[in-house]
Amino acid sequence: MDQPQLATRTTLTSQTGLEDLIPDLTDDTISFAGGLPDPAQFPKQAISDSFQRVLANNGLDALQYHNAKGYLPLREQLAERLDQENYQVNADQILLTQGAQQGLDLVAKLLLNKGDHVIVEAPTYVGALAAFAAYEPHYHEIPLESDGMDLVQLNKVLLTQKIKIIYTVPNFQNPTGIVMSLAKRQQLIELANRYNVIILEDDPYHYLRFVGETLPSLKSLDTQGRVISLGSFSKILAPGLRIGWLLAAEPLLKQIRYLKDGADLESPTLTQQVISDYLLHNDFDAHLEVLRKDYLQKRNWMLAALKQYLPAGFSYTQPEGGFFLWLTGPADLNFEKLLREQIAPQEHLLYVPSTHLYASNSVLNSARISYATYDQATIDLGVSKLSQALAREVSHSRAQ
Ligand SMILES: Cc1ncc(COP(=O)(O)O)c(C=O)c1O
Repeated sequence: MDQPQLATRTTLTSQTGLEDLIPDLTDDTISFAGGLPDPAQFPKQAISDSFQRVLANNGLDALQYHNAKGYLPLREQLAERLDQENYQVNADQILLTQGAQQGLDLVAKLLLNKGDHVIVEAPTYVGALAAFAAYEPHYHEIPLESDGMDLVQLNKVLLTQKIKIIYTVPNFQNPTGIVMSLAKRQQLIELANRYNVIILEDDPYHYLRFVGETLPSLKSLDTQGRVISLGSFSKILAPGLRIGWLLAAEPLLKQIRYLKDGADLESPTLTQQVISDYLLHNDFDAHLEVLRKDYLQKRNWMLAALKQYLPAGFSYTQPEGGFFLWLTGPADLNFEKLLREQIAPQEHLLYVPSTHLYASNSVLNSARISYATYDQATIDLGVSKLSQALAREVSHSRAQ
C-alpha cells in the first residue's frame, strides 16, 4: 500500500511522546520516570468485591449503554464530596470522563482552532502537550515560581495576546511538585475575569496532600463559570479503572457532552458502577489517609537520599503532596543526553528529562523524579546511582 497521507496534526502529536526516549526496561531497571501510583495501594480485594456485587445485583444495567454524562449515583456521590470543599457543583455539572486525560482532549477540542493561543506552565504536564498538540495551538510558556506561575509574566502575555486557555496543575504540579499559593489562585481568577479567558484546572493529585493545609480549588474560587476543572480516580483508586471527572458550567458542559458523544459515547458504565459501589461500601477517606501516609514516607526517603548523595550544584523541590520532585542541575547539564547515553544503558535508571516537559523543549538541565512506587532500599540505591552518575558528569565537564 502507498503511504497514506496523514493529517498535518500528526507532525505535532508524534513529536510530543516520550515513547522513544524511555528504553525497554530490564529486570533491574529502577524507573523514577513513571507517573504511576504504587500498585501495592490498589484496594484490589475491595474493587473485586464491588465488581462481583455490581454484576450480581445490577449486571444487565451495568453492561448496557447509558449516556455521556455518566452514572448518576456516582456523580451524586462526587457532588457531595466536592460540596464539602465549596466547589458548588451539582451532579448535572459533572461529566464522568475516561480519566482526566480525556478531559484535556475534550476541552482542547471544545476551544481550540488551529493557531489559537494557549498558556501553559513552564514546565508542564507532558500529557497535556500531547492532548493539545492535535489541535495545533500556539503556546505561551509562563515560568513557575516556588508558589506557582509568574503572574507578572502572565499579565504581560494577557495584555498582548488573545488567549483561549490558561492551563494549570495547581496542586503538586506534574512535573515539579509545586503548589500554587492561595494569593496566586485569587489573582489568577481576577486576571482571567479581566481578560475573559477560560482556566483549565487539572487536579488529579488534589487528595494527595500529605503536608500542610488543602487550598481552595480554582473552581471553588470562580464566580463567572470560567474554570473547567478535572479530577481523577487514577491516583487515588486505580488508573486501570480509567474514570475521571470534568466540572464545568452549562452551557460549556453541554457542548463538551456532545464532543464526548462523538469521541466514545460514554465512559465504561461497569467501572463507573463499580467505583460507586466501592465508595458506598468502603471508607474512602481512610483509604486516602493511608495513601497520604505512604507517599509522605516515600517522599521522605527520597529527600533523605538526595541530601545524602547528591553532589553540590543541584537543587530540588520539596513537594507537599503528589508523586514528583524536580531536580535542577548546573546550567550546562543536559539531562536527556545523559539519560540516553549513560544513565539508562549503564545504570539501568530512568527519569524524565526536562526537554520534553516544556512546550518549547528549551530547558535541558532539569528532570522529573517520581518517588511513588519504590521501597526505601530501592529509592536509596536509585538516588545513589543517579548521584554518582551526575557527579561524574559534572567533574568531566569541568575538566574539559
Ligand atoms: C497532571 C495530570 N493530568 C492528567 C493526568 C492523566 O490522568 P488520568 O489517568 O486521570 O487520565 C495525569 C497523569 O499522570 C497527570 O499527572
